[in-house]
Amino acid sequence: MPSPADIPAPVSAAARAPVRVIAVASGKGGVGKTSVAVNLAMALVHAGQRTLLLDTDLGLANVDVMLGLSPRFTLADVLAGRCELQDTLLEGPCGLWVVPAASGKRHMTELTPREHVGLVHAFCQLDLPIDTMVVDNAAGIADSVLTFCQAAQDVIVVVCDEPASVTDAYALIKVLSRERGVTRFQVLANQVHNHAEGRQLFDKLERVSARFLDVTLHYLGAIPRDEWLRRAVQRQEAVVEAFPGCPSALAFREIARRARQWQSPLGPRGHVEFFMERLVGQGGNAEQDPLRSAVA
Ligand SMILES: Nc1ncnc2c1ncn2[C@@H]1O[C@H](COP(=O)(O)OP(=O)(O)OP(=O)(O)O)[C@@H](O)[C@H]1O
Ligand SMILES: [Mg+2]
Repeated sequence: MPSPADIPAPVSAAARAPVRVIAVASGKGGVGKTSVAVNLAMALVHAGQRTLLLDTDLGLANVDVMLGLSPRFTLADVLAGRCELQDTLLEGPCGLWVVPAASGKRHMTELTPREHVGLVHAFCQLDLPIDTMVVDNAAGIADSVLTFCQAAQDVIVVVCDEPASVTDAYALIKVLSRERGVTRFQVLANQVHNHAEGRQLFDKLERVSARFLDVTLHYLGAIPRDEWLRRAVQRQEAVVEAFPGCPSALAFREIARRARQWQSPLGPRGHVEFFMERLVGQGGNAEQDPLRSAVA
């Protein structure tokens, strides 16, 4: 099977502006990763950011379903060598770009680590002027999830008020820090009943992480449990688009405002990274990346 790792980067890519990449992950399934990724991406678009939303969940893809889009090609086709990444691009509401995955296809966990890294590097061939990319991850702590989080500049860990959610979020943070050198995390509480609940969830995670891990957790905020969000899902629209005045939409706009204030990428960090070519010349050297050399 042709691997995206084999696709060379066009030289012109290095000249383009850096892209901020935000990965959304959780460990536990069903806590709201896709809802967060879709609405954060849409809120960033509303704020004037040219944004690409990447669905990496090949097992249960649903970014396209949530946005009512009909993909012709998906990430599964790219991995099978049937098309190039560029061919999967869909234009969503208000100019949001989407790279969809495909449900029920080969799961990311069936791909090799080399193919995950290859997929990350395939983004350098995308000829798309964007400021931000939001990456929706599958549940769990599989190698693919770790690679996509490591390859992003910021990782949002979504938690909700269930014991398994906090334990699984901790497990994700632990493997990302110990195995992939990711030490900074943004924690987002979802489906909370009030602000205090969100803060308590963060405090719980922060206490145990401070005790056993060398990481920094930031509290990004909380999204309320909101019936309007469910209605938006049924209408196959982002809630920030369908019901912009509802509580969850207001919270997503605030999260997007905070995310826009995060420091821009300064240069390559010396490991697998999305849009690395666009970072070269910003203060680093891509040739130093051993993983890249391994797959080149
Ligand atoms: N803040 C919220 N208020 C109300 N319902 C919510 C909220 N966040 C998520 N949901 C609902 O919870 C369900 C799961 O959400 P979502 O698909 O975003 O989770 P996920 O973490 O992406 O799941 P998976 O692990 O399967 O990918 C959806 O039906 C969604 O509508
Ligand atoms: Mg999901």
